[in-house]
Amino acid sequence: MQADVTALRNEFPVLARKTYLNSGSYCALANDVKRAIDSYMDDRLLIGANWDVWVTKNEAVRNLMATVLRANPDEIAVTASASAGINAVASALNFGHRRNKVIVSDFEFPTNAQIWHAQEPRGARVVHASRAADGYIPLERFEKLIDEETLLVAVTHVCFRNGAKLDIPGIARLARAKGARVLLDCYQAIGAVTVDVRALDVDFAVGGMLKYLLGTAGIGFLYVKSELIASLTPTHSGWFAQADIAAMDITANRPSPTARRFEAGTPPVVNCYAAEAGLKLLLSVGTEAIERRVQQLTKRCIDRLEDIGWPSVTPPQDDRRGPMVCVKSTNSAALCAKLMERDIVTSHRDDNLRAMFHFYNTDEDTDAFVAAMADNRAQLA
Ligand SMILES: Cc1ncc(COP(=O)(O)O)c(C=O)c1O
Repeated sequence: MQADVTALRNEFPVLARKTYLNSGSYCALANDVKRAIDSYMDDRLLIGANWDVWVTKNEAVRNLMATVLRANPDEIAVTASASAGINAVASALNFGHRRNKVIVSDFEFPTNAQIWHAQEPRGARVVHASRAADGYIPLERFEKLIDEETLLVAVTHVCFRNGAKLDIPGIARLARAKGARVLLDCYQAIGAVTVDVRALDVDFAVGGMLKYLLGTAGIGFLYVKSELIASLTPTHSGWFAQADIAAMDITANRPSPTARRFEAGTPPVVNCYAAEAGLKLLLSVGTEAIERRVQQLTKRCIDRLEDIGWPSVTPPQDDRRGPMVCVKSTNSAALCAKLMERDIVTSHRDDNLRAMFHFYNTDEDTDAFVAAMADNRAQLA
């Protein structure tokens, strides 16, 4: 990694106090991001409504997100959440044909299943790709389900429960062969894993800024492949989705020719300040360098956990995991609290304790985590 990690760590004050392994819940806050939010507050106090600047912040987030995703700015909608992006896509789909099947997986974050089930009254048929005996969802499970009746395969990149990463290029290949679209929920990957929407060959991608993108809550993004935009008219709309926002025309819906047609109302202005600062910081380090470092850290973590006899439930293969390492526990909430007593910040879902790594984590963080786990062996499932 080119950037000096020690110097960068100093930009995240919480790292001096905590072993912070919780970036998949909420990232550590950088000084730059706080300064950006402060500058919004200063504008409010001293200028009032600084709309001209606010618009540039929203557009800056769009441009930076396009860089992160290797897409064009016209393919990016700045949203209030990942859910808002998924809902906007769902609103543009027609389930009134034979091709009305939506495939989700057992690894989904609830929102990317619930929203598709919410389309059932509109005609959507939602089916779930289930996990195999080893806990992973191999390509064959998708191959069995994807057919000529499949409209969309809506899948997570990295599972929030167990850290497993799906074979997205493989799933996209299967979908293409049957004429289906692919929506990628890359929230648990983006920022710590390179998400190149063209290389992955997905049609839509959603996520948000509060995890590995180093920003804050209340802002997300939706990528829509340029070739598809004109053919999709969201019924979830609003004045910021119009071709001409300033027209204030109440006689018709005239959607923007770009992915902005998937937006709705007033942008999340204060969150744009934070997101812009976070994305700039992320890009200054570089997503490839981050991915390499995070892969080394997660590998070290998995290996050391194996050494203490507490194997992770996250797949050990490099291409099957993201920035998260999970272990099963008899009481994951109690284990999380025990680690917190030692200033080690993790989180838990189901029976799993989750340790989540970003570029600002170190080998020492990994070793402190594993040493604390060894001392809490009573919680081993
Ligand atoms: C994979 C994944 N998708 C979606 C979400 C929820 O996104 P939002 O609250 O922005 O709709 C999360 C949040 O933790 C997540 O981990």
